[in-house]
Amino acid sequence: MKNGKYAVGIVGAGGIGQYHIEGWKKMSDAVVYGIAETSKETLENVRLKYDIPFAVTDYKKLMDIEEIDVIDICTPNAFHYPVAISALKNKKHVICEKPLATNSRHVEKMIAAAKENRRKLMAAQNQRFTPAGEKTKEIIDKGLLGEIYFAQCYAVRRRELPPRETFIRKNLSGGGPLFDIGVHILDIVYWFMGCPKVHSVKGIVFNKLAGNRDITGAWGEWDREKFDVEDFAAGFVLFNDGRALQLTCSFLSNLPSNWSSNLYGTRAGMVWPEMKMFSEIYGLHSDSVLSPIVPDKEPSHHKELRHFLDCVRDNRDVLVKPEESLEVIRILEAMYISAEKKREVIIDGI
Ligand SMILES: NC(=O)c1ccc[n+]([C@@H]2O[C@H](COP(=O)([O-])OP(=O)(O)OC[C@H]3O[C@@H](n4cnc5c(N)ncnc54)[C@H](O)[C@@H]3O)[C@@H](O)[C@H]2O)c1
Repeated sequence: MKNGKYAVGIVGAGGIGQYHIEGWKKMSDAVVYGIAETSKETLENVRLKYDIPFAVTDYKKLMDIEEIDVIDICTPNAFHYPVAISALKNKKHVICEKPLATNSRHVEKMIAAAKENRRKLMAAQNQRFTPAGEKTKEIIDKGLLGEIYFAQCYAVRRRELPPRETFIRKNLSGGGPLFDIGVHILDIVYWFMGCPKVHSVKGIVFNKLAGNRDITGAWGEWDREKFDVEDFAAGFVLFNDGRALQLTCSFLSNLPSNWSSNLYGTRAGMVWPEMKMFSEIYGLHSDSVLSPIVPDKEPSHHKELRHFLDCVRDNRDVLVKPEESLEVIRILEAMYISAEKKREVIIDGI
């Protein structure tokens, strides 16, 4: 704590790290006390822009600062694990950008370290904090859709490949669109379905467009030589209770971009996040679009940080339980294994 406020240390001050800093700055009971950033130029710019007392290139130095209560990890995916372990061992609470880690063994160790050191750990799955995410979950929990027995999940982009190394090099990202955006749609739909135990996964991955120099990226050029992740992935997940979902993700495709999910419920279906509901009333089709009467304008990324700090302060369970994130990472990991081995992967066997 610093002057009665929770002291936060940010590791990785790139795109999302700076957006998180703005979120923390809104809170009267929090102070951004330190940043760790490997790029000296970014470090200096961010330190000055946000007036942050401690700025270091080596994240381990943040861990020695006793006042720091919370470490917020915003590095490329591959560093989530070592930074989180170091933070938890130093008795810091950890909120970490998605995906929580690039493999399930690492997530297991992160969960064990959080338990051992009695600290909170949460993946920053901001979709759960969007108005459409929160309200849909409430509607589902009240039974309006009945049982969701199947879902189709799409995180499909037409020409939106993030060109930074953070996203295109497997040793930094752990994977392509599956790990970057598939994790978002999978996490929220998995949550909508009540986080059932996973039975098995079948997946395919392709790199069909990203190596082609004639393909134009809406977000700028990427290094074709360095791009070593998939540009497309699809898979089928079967749960122990017999329900299932299907996931399709891409950075580049010759189809319109599609960020959505179709939820097949026994009482009603929903197209999410538009919140279009379809059902039957006395032999009649009933189609409706749900929309907020009072719009919630607070960004979901900032709401998730507020939620995390409330959980730390009140010693409450976090909304995105690390065990749920573990199951999500197991699915993603199994999709790659399945694609490589050309067979279904039984999750218990990973
Ligand atoms: N929830 C969301 O909507 C969302 C959006 C974008 C990114 N993300 C996630 O945030 C993370 C970062 O993405 P980004 O878009 O900010 O990437 P970025 O490349 O803009 O920023 C990453 C920063 O981390 C720094 N860095 C790299 N290794 C480091 C280390 N060991 N210690 C300290 N700093 C280090 C880099 O220099 C860079 O400034 C990724 O995990 C990504 O999946 C989430």
